[in-house]
Amino acid sequence: MRHATARAHTNFALVKYWGKRGTALNLPAVGSISITLDALFTRTTVTLDPNAEDDAVTLNGTPASTPDAARITRFVELMRSKAGIADRAIVVSENNFPTGAGLASSASGFAALAVATGAALGLRLTPRELSELSRRGSGSAARSIFGGFVELYKGTKDDGSDCYAEPIAPSDHWPLKVFVAVVTEGPKDTGSTSGMDASKATSPYYHPWVDTHPVDLAMMRSAIADKDFGHLTRITERSCMKMHAVMLATDPALIYWRGASIEVVHAVRTLQKQGVAATYTIDAGPQVKVITTEDDADKVRAALRDIPGVIRVMESNLGPAAVVESAGTDA
Ligand code: PMV
Repeated sequence: MRHATARAHTNFALVKYWGKRGTALNLPAVGSISITLDALFTRTTVTLDPNAEDDAVTLNGTPASTPDAARITRFVELMRSKAGIADRAIVVSENNFPTGAGLASSASGFAALAVATGAALGLRLTPRELSELSRRGSGSAARSIFGGFVELYKGTKDDGSDCYAEPIAPSDHWPLKVFVAVVTEGPKDTGSTSGMDASKATSPYYHPWVDTHPVDLAMMRSAIADKDFGHLTRITERSCMKMHAVMLATDPALIYWRGASIEVVHAVRTLQKQGVAATYTIDAGPQVKVITTEDDADKVRAALRDIPGVIRVMESNLGPAAVVESAGTDA
């Protein structure tokens, strides 16, 4: 039986993606720029079993729920049809971070699944092809194929062939530090796909969000090239808050924050007033990601420890690209 194990690291966006220009191929309405994290990753093993009747999916030690298994099987099927191989797949996937911590496990999850399935099927895929395929599983997964600073292009073609991610700069270009303040553990209220559809249909800020997006991407590219933390801060917070404004004005409102999320934002603002390099971003969940420099990491760590409602703080450097850790054939 052919098998392969791959590891992909999670990422989060500094310039966010929210909204789709196409649902069938999962095409984003806007581009995005992210950083990949070293400390948080998914490891996935795919074994092709010619004798099995069905795919089997185990996530973090337990059989996947029906909707999760269906989404993963659909993705494996996409890759199987590319390879012209019909063997069923046994998928075993583990996150090294707590499940339900509201972190983007779909980003590292679908990237690891794409790399492992591609290797098990013997497909020789380029990183760009892997990114394009991962996008079909989850938009943010397209970015987890690469390490460091990454841009996902929205593309304009209907077939999605120009919608993939590319590295902007490697991790060591600007060794930033990231803290993830976990404020609630539990599943999120509204998944990103249905949330995005609702925002597009009802939020009065959806079109202004899409229209003002390209300038944020351009400014973030220069902030990264120049290692300009002031500009990084301005654009990261502007993109985050514009996205949450779109969400809050969705009908009914998408409120991903908890009280402690806002407490973390205020703590970051206090640090900024003291001259500390720190900025925050929040995705479709309550956790707050705080970005800082190596020099100011101790001050940020100390400040986050004291915020009521913060359950735990995870810490990471910028991380590497997705890799195949092992592959082979067993009897
Ligand atoms: O990749 P998805 O479908 O989980 O969407 C990601 C959406 C955000 O995390 C809110 C923003 C982003 O760009 O990662």
